[in-house]
Amino acid sequence: MRRAKISVIGAGNVGATCAHWAAAKELGDVVLVDIPDKVGVAQGKALDLACCGPIENFDANIIGTSDYKDVAGSDVVIVTAGLPRKPGMSRDDLIQTNVKIVKSVSEQIATHAPDSVVIVVANPLDAMVYTAWKTTGFPTNRILGQAGCLDVARFCTFIAMEIGCSVEDVTALLLGGHGDDMVPLPRFASVHGIPVNQLLSDETITACVDRAKVGGGEIVKLMGTSAYYAPASGSVQMAEAIIKDKKRILPCAAYCDAEYGVGGYFVGVPCVLGAGGMEQVIEIDLNSDEKVLMDESVSHVKDLVEVVRETFPELV
Ligand code: APR
Repeated sequence: MRRAKISVIGAGNVGATCAHWAAAKELGDVVLVDIPDKVGVAQGKALDLACCGPIENFDANIIGTSDYKDVAGSDVVIVTAGLPRKPGMSRDDLIQTNVKIVKSVSEQIATHAPDSVVIVVANPLDAMVYTAWKTTGFPTNRILGQAGCLDVARFCTFIAMEIGCSVEDVTALLLGGHGDDMVPLPRFASVHGIPVNQLLSDETITACVDRAKVGGGEIVKLMGTSAYYAPASGSVQMAEAIIKDKKRILPCAAYCDAEYGVGGYFVGVPCVLGAGGMEQVIEIDLNSDEKVLMDESVSHVKDLVEVVRETFPELV
């Protein structure tokens, strides 16, 4: 059987950690790409990771490179290239720099891995997914953004911490853009089927919601840079669902037109991930409060995309 191939663009904190999770899960061969100035870092991290194989028991060819020819034949390309946040910055502050980076990376992906499914991680996420879509010209089922897997994982972690239960039993749902106005939906959170409001007070649930929304900022404040373990873990969760054609229902930034009344933007929604990439957006009935929050979040995504369009008319 042919081994799958995962390329990760950007060999920094998120990228190298994606390579780590992908190799440890034996998802396939891994190509770690960075700019020519940092090719040694990409190659060194790839070699270091490859040497974990005999200990962790995985077989994978892992290479570092700055040559995009090496991404040819990739099943999945994860785009982590871009500036991370510093304390005091919002994700939106990264837009001018990161749109240029994601645009140039996407041109290379379109040329060298034209059949791949692209998972964007660079921030501000929803605008970067748009940039990758416009630049590659790929069909919308092969362009996704990773945010929901991470944001839901944070939400579940905080719920489990409050209950004192295993995270394995907690499931939750979250919609909207990957900003502080993301929309965690406590109504859909449960612990092995038990609605979370039977286990926690409303105040505690609200605290979990609030912490999930700003969980990224909490980590930036502590570390001085953006989180990377969980963002990478969420990205590889999506890659695994695609490579193994699992038909998992995961929250991702996916193209929505009529869905949720979004009107042609990438926003966080639950969708089916399989060999076809994003195979279906799942529409759930929102109550009026949830709909207001979703509309606010989508409107913020639209504003960000407008900034991209104004600055880069070729991406309209
Ligand atoms: N091609 C390939 N790699 C690039 C390019 C490019 N054109 N431009 C920058 N890079 C690389 C940088 O050289 C660096 O190694 O992207 C890497 C980014 O790594 P870090 O600075 O460690 O940033 P990281 O924490 O990984 O975050 C990357 O993901 O979660 C988001 O907000 C985060 O936008 C940020 C992105």
